[in-house]
Amino acid sequence: MNNILQLPALKTPCYYYDLDLLRETLRVATHEADKHAFRLHYAVKANANPRLLALIRSRGLGADCVSGNEVAAAIDSGFPAADIVYAGVGKSDDEIRRALEADIFCFNCESFPEMEVINGIAASLGLRARVALRVNPNVDAHTHRYITTGVEENKFGFYLHDLEAAIRRCRELPALEWLGLHFHVGSQITDMEVFCELCARVSDLQRHLAMHGLVPAHVNFGGGLGVDYDDPDEHSIPNFAAYLRVFADHFEARPGQQLHLEPGRSLVAQCGSLVSRVLYVKEGRDKKFIILDAGMSDLIRPALYQAHHAIENLTPSSAARDLYDVVGPICESSDCFAKAVDLPVTRRGDLIVLRSAGAYGEVMASRYNLRDLPPARFSDEGKASLA
Ligand code: LLP
Repeated sequence: MNNILQLPALKTPCYYYDLDLLRETLRVATHEADKHAFRLHYAVKANANPRLLALIRSRGLGADCVSGNEVAAAIDSGFPAADIVYAGVGKSDDEIRRALEADIFCFNCESFPEMEVINGIAASLGLRARVALRVNPNVDAHTHRYITTGVEENKFGFYLHDLEAAIRRCRELPALEWLGLHFHVGSQITDMEVFCELCARVSDLQRHLAMHGLVPAHVNFGGGLGVDYDDPDEHSIPNFAAYLRVFADHFEARPGQQLHLEPGRSLVAQCGSLVSRVLYVKEGRDKKFIILDAGMSDLIRPALYQAHHAIENLTPSSAARDLYDVVGPICESSDCFAKAVDLPVTRRGDLIVLRSAGAYGEVMASRYNLRDLPPARFSDEGKASLA
């Protein structure tokens, strides 16, 4: 963290990535996955910064993409097409065509009409598309309602009552090859019981399908492992061992079946911080505001999901403390990072960091108010880069 203070020509706001922490996180995650021979596909949507993508690829992970441009970014960063899966409820014809031409490993298909369209486009190109069917398992992830995806009210995947018909149709269509099943029930899940329940639900489903002679070669459980936003230093690396053990212990895998997971947040959240400078400290009648040069256009999670990011003053000039609402410069009241934060007495020019911002931070930044997009800085700047 304190590296930030040594960065030459630090212009704020910017994202800062601790690449040593990312390397160590990847080491732990891949070590634990290898123990069970699980395949990891990094969810590119969490952070598509090219340096992070290259580092993640160098550790042998595949890529989980949700748009044509994510597929292109993964390929540009060196992910072999054979290690790319592509999900999403609304793939356009052009995106499907480009992914087919790139010969990606697998489309995670989410509806009957999409299946027909992929089949038609593949046939017109003289190709065969490998397809897994995304299933909505009706398992409640007990997380924020905007990031819960696996219950029937959500738009994602085939509903359980349609699944058998969907597999049969997939096997009938001549330009499709049915590879398996895909699930993703939500994000920022910290209760392992949710994953236990998912394993039990999918094991039941497999038993039912096997009675009809349908055995998926691949089962992909999606992503979702949460991180500790309250104490990023105490838990800088999520407990991958416990998470992956759930799937080894609770899922009844069939012989020869390959299991896949799609971690996003758990790999990149803790290595990133949003770095900002204090523009003004403003005193109201009964509270004080720290007005930062970073706002919701740089990090939208607090405004959109009421998300909590730990906030630190890196350059306090006094040991005394005070309570502040920490806000951005944007013309909306929702441009507030946190209320009543206990911080050292803060002055104009102090450097403030919002921690755990490596996932769904930089990628969700916008140009609202015509602000510049925040650039990325890295912990190895000035040192020889040894990705
Ligand atoms: N696989 C699929 C099909 C997904 O939809 C997602 C995330 C992942 C994998 C990766 O999930 P993760 O391991 O990162 O939990 N913007 C929100 C999170 C949206 C997650 C969308 N899907 C946030 O800032 O919290």
